[in-house]
Amino acid sequence: MISLPTPAELSITPRDRRFGRRSATPRLWHGGRVEATAIYNALSTTFPKGEAFFVESVRAFRDGTPPRLADEIKAFTTQEAIHSREHDAFNRRAIDAGYDLSKLEAQVEKRLAVTRSKPPIVSLGATMALEHFTAILAHQLLANPAHLAGAEQEAADLWRWHAVEEIEHKGVAYDTWLHATRHWTRWKRWKVKAKVMLYITRNFVVDRTAGALELMRQDGVTGVRAWALLLSYLWVRPGVFRKIAGAWGRFFLPGFHPWNEDDRHLLARYDASAKDAPEPKRKVRRAA
Ligand SMILES: [Fe+2]
Ligand SMILES: [Fe+2]
Repeated sequence: MISLPTPAELSITPRDRRFGRRSATPRLWHGGRVEATAIYNALSTTFPKGEAFFVESVRAFRDGTPPRLADEIKAFTTQEAIHSREHDAFNRRAIDAGYDLSKLEAQVEKRLAVTRSKPPIVSLGATMALEHFTAILAHQLLANPAHLAGAEQEAADLWRWHAVEEIEHKGVAYDTWLHATRHWTRWKRWKVKAKVMLYITRNFVVDRTAGALELMRQDGVTGVRAWALLLSYLWVRPGVFRKIAGAWGRFFLPGFHPWNEDDRHLLARYDASAKDAPEPKRKVRRAA
């Protein structure tokens, strides 16, 4: 039996909220900055299809999981479905503002098709790796206000809300992976997860960079200027990729688990500040 460091009292709580429905989102919603808007829009373009893929990949391994994990998978599914809905709406607002996202969407579909053509455990591995990626990005987004400084309020709220729930369910795909591979040797599990993470990371960095450059091109920013703006934003200031590098590397350490980093204080802080939000919060599950 594998011991799981997911906190016993963790509650995965879908917060069924809607964002940005009342007014149009400005084209350069991220502080009027082309590169900042572009990278977040590029990321958002991946979510509707990507998160549906996460759900299907994890659910394929739900049968036979311990009851607590089965419950967590349900709550994870609900959260991801709502994220897909909200990012779909966010992406439509980007289209309304004049962006053409079709190239970026086609790239996401191409990547997903390659993974889906392999055995289901590969999809679960890819989800587990991408969920770590999302969780460390989410941590950075919430811990460091510089990332969303200057962003339009509703858009910033959407990203913070999504970040909170990504942290909350960050152990689910990993625990499902541990359960699905419980008969593997530790060495085999490590080798596969390391290979998957390296593959995912390469594609993530290359695809999001290319996607952001494409959107910047649509804003008339190209060539060396586009590269310089984007690379400096991602790697220097505020430098989100640089800042998650340490947490990314810890994935490869023996005994890694997403909850080795207990960042529930970020969730508590968010819930305290969002308690006056008009949307009702629905408790789906509270573990004993
Ligand atoms: Fe999500
Ligand atoms: Fe997620």
